[in-house]
Amino acid sequence: MKSCDKLVDAGRRHFLSSAGAMTAAAAAVSVLSTEAKADQAPSTLIRYPKSRLGNVADLKVNEPLAVNYPDDDAPGVLIKLGQRVVGGVGADGDIVGFTTVCPHKGFPLNYVASDKTMNCPGHYSRFDCEKGGQQIWGQATQNLPQYTLRIDEKGDIYAEGVDELLYGRLSNVL
Ligand code: FES
Repeated sequence: MKSCDKLVDAGRRHFLSSAGAMTAAAAAVSVLSTEAKADQAPSTLIRYPKSRLGNVADLKVNEPLAVNYPDDDAPGVLIKLGQRVVGGVGADGDIVGFTTVCPHKGFPLNYVASDKTMNCPGHYSRFDCEKGGQQIWGQATQNLPQYTLRIDEKGDIYAEGVDELLYGRLSNVL
């Protein structure tokens, strides 16, 4: 019986040692395959071009300037809001840019200067331009896409990206 106990003990040690090695090997394979998948996976980022939209001298407080970004089929606005806001650029941190295509079903939005909102005539969604395009009413399911803006030393305003998907664009399909 004594030799039998030793055999059982040796077998248990061998089993535990093998199981540990197999677990480590499986973890290593898992890490490697995850890294390989990440290398092969298509990018989920949409890259938008850098584009000059206007100059600070073109803007008057609370009067939207019509622009197009990232191309001629994508209407939007630049607005100098008159007070520092989320995503605002310029000396006063108050210049913002948004698409004017409603993210719900693509109706053209109207700017209401009295409360600095973009409003949709389709199903009445409303977006707060002082809060980064936050939706404050209606049926849309996302905030209003806001441009990432930069101003150079001459006062030229460049868009370099958008923080949400623009409605109805083929590039949204991954
Ligand atoms: Fe704007 Fe429906 S299209 S709320």
